[in-house]
Amino acid sequence: MLLTDLDLERWEQDGFLVLPDLVPADACDELMTRGSELVARYDDDDERSVFTTDQQDRHSDDKFLRSGATIDFFWETEALDADGNPVLDGAVGFNKMGHAQHDLDPVFDRFSRQDPLPALVSELGMTDPLLLQSMLIFKHAGVGGEVISHQDATFLYTDPVTVVGLWFALEDATVENGCLFAQPGGHKGPLRQLFRRADGGGTEFVDLDPTPLPELGAAELVPLEVTKGTCVVLHGLLPHGSHPNRSGRSRQAYSVHLIDGAADYPAFNWLQRPNLPLRGFDNARR
Ligand code: FE2
Repeated sequence: MLLTDLDLERWEQDGFLVLPDLVPADACDELMTRGSELVARYDDDDERSVFTTDQQDRHSDDKFLRSGATIDFFWETEALDADGNPVLDGAVGFNKMGHAQHDLDPVFDRFSRQDPLPALVSELGMTDPLLLQSMLIFKHAGVGGEVISHQDATFLYTDPVTVVGLWFALEDATVENGCLFAQPGGHKGPLRQLFRRADGGGTEFVDLDPTPLPELGAAELVPLEVTKGTCVVLHGLLPHGSHPNRSGRSRQAYSVHLIDGAADYPAFNWLQRPNLPLRGFDNARR
């Protein structure tokens, strides 16, 4: 067994697990190098998409909606001027890369399916784990944006809720450079909102429950300061987020979100993969 009884108790009680040194530092370096190579190949196609978790300005353009089945790049708000032209190079101005590199790029594929991840997910009770989505989160020095407090099941919904996030620190993450903050036990609360495709095109938030989420800065959210190679496992209902990175040090992370194939994945989810079947840890396509 990879997880101890205490780990499983904590998972039950807190809704997250911090597993230091779960992946080797070399693998983190290799992933960041591969990310840089893909950034360098980025072809500016004039379809610049900003990623922000602020509900009022969430930018749901075609690029975002199709990125469930591609490798696309999303800018930091501060990297583009008022006309949408870059004022920073992508190498320091991208917010993230997403969302299917775990299936489309061999280096990301290998990282996402390495041991002991299959055992970890199985011990957490997933019967048919499917790797739904991945993100390389750059959180660049000085410009890395805030991720407001949210529940992952809002964005990746199954009935019942099964989404689990594996968040890997590719670099040390501290309060100073924008580490994760999470609410211990907050996964026992209800799902507050759904982010879904709207009938008339685009996307919308639908309120499900009025219980407020603790905002960043609230005492309920505790910092998860972790070292490179740590995996933070996040329950899909756990409120979490991160502050902007105003430090001089980047805080790269890679996350993979898994769902259980035993649950229903509705067609209203923003992320759809019509031409790219979901895969588990083996090569079988579902
Ligand atoms: Fe999240």
